[in-house]
Amino acid sequence: MTMMGTPPNILIVDDEAVHMRALCDILGRHDYKTTGLISGEAALEKMQTETFDLLLSDLMMPGIDGITLVQAASKIDSNLACIIMTGEGSIASAVQAMKVGAHDYIVKPFKVSAILPVLARALETRRLRMENVILEQRQRAHTAELNTLNSELELAKKEAERANHEKSNFLSHMSHELRTPLNSILGFAQILQSESISATPEERKKFLRNIENAGKHLLTLINEILDLAQIESGFISISLEPIQLAKIFEECRAMISPIAEKFGIRMIYPEYMDVLVFSDKTRLKQVLINLLSNAIKYNNKNGSVTLDYELTEVGRIRLFVIDTGIGLSAEQLKFIFQPFNRLGREKIKEEGTGIGLSLTKKIVEAMQAEIGVASKLDIGSTFWIELPVHKSTSSKNINSIGDIISY
Ligand SMILES: Nc1ncnc2c1ncn2[C@@H]1O[C@H](COP(=O)(O)OP(=O)(O)OP(=O)(O)O)[C@@H](O)[C@H]1O
Ligand SMILES: [Mg+2]
Repeated sequence: MTMMGTPPNILIVDDEAVHMRALCDILGRHDYKTTGLISGEAALEKMQTETFDLLLSDLMMPGIDGITLVQAASKIDSNLACIIMTGEGSIASAVQAMKVGAHDYIVKPFKVSAILPVLARALETRRLRMENVILEQRQRAHTAELNTLNSELELAKKEAERANHEKSNFLSHMSHELRTPLNSILGFAQILQSESISATPEERKKFLRNIENAGKHLLTLINEILDLAQIESGFISISLEPIQLAKIFEECRAMISPIAEKFGIRMIYPEYMDVLVFSDKTRLKQVLINLLSNAIKYNNKNGSVTLDYELTEVGRIRLFVIDTGIGLSAEQLKFIFQPFNRLGREKIKEEGTGIGLSLTKKIVEAMQAEIGVASKLDIGSTFWIELPVHKSTSSKNINSIGDIISY
């Protein structure tokens, strides 16, 4: 019996029609479903439309003989069990048939009691082979799954190692950055307390101013580090809501103009626009102020900074901060968002800790927005952030900005 109790389907091929019919009849009575044909050609044709469990074929037949039939039938159905029936004189050929795929052979004339165990054995071998194929497939799938899991694990391990390394780097930079203003505070405080060092009232005032500045710097630094830590641990509160972009630009303008004036930088803002962006008001302002103050800080004398925007086709908007400043090399661009990395600009007189942009990037990502930069050394930089638009009646597009960014 085959699966689900259906009788095994046997294809009997013998050019001696009487013999073939007798076999069909006998096996039919032993719970086999039989189909009898008198040529190999007819058998192969039949196999195109019907699936059999077993082929019982005569060896010597005109046209396609038993060996050729076994070979061709196995190509059509690799699971087919094949048994060759042969006369006493051609056992060697029957053995050859087994070499090309037959499971067994029986020597004619035979009794029913002799053929039944051979059929059962061939069908059992077929069943085991099929089970084996399924098991092998499962094994292969399992191995592939294991391999995928292993490479995922390997990736996760590498990522954890990288994050760990970044954290250690961050911590060592942070302690260095915190120690510098602290040492300055302690140093000046000691000078002021020391009786052996005489200082004029003017000098004392200067030392106190230094202490105050270092204190302020320390406070900013601590606030930024706390901000960064909060974002990293997912504790940042971001509330996305529709906000008037014009209003945000106006508030940035008010905050940034004293700094621009101090540095002698010309600020250029877009004309009034009717755009509602979907963002967090405070955080968006913080991001823009960070980018604008960098654009001013790393600019040239009499340089300019342009704040502009472009609506994209997919319901998003790009805000641009474009400067005509000192720019960045391709190498510097690689590390632009790395915390505490001032890209070799530690010696220039502009103060900074190199944390602004890493913080900006984290905030931008928490707002479901993106940030990017294009820059050329000695020509200038363009920082952009892209965020969702809630509603807009303005239709400004990139072309105008494309004219300004020429790198
Ligand atoms: N618009 C720009 N043009 C040229 N270089 C820039 C620009 N913006 C940033 N940089 C470079 O990238 C570095 C990192 O910027 P980031 O804002 O993170 O730090 P910072 O300005 O040095 O310090 P702070 O943490 O106070 O902002 C800067 O030190 C500077 O070298
Ligand atoms: Mg900065």
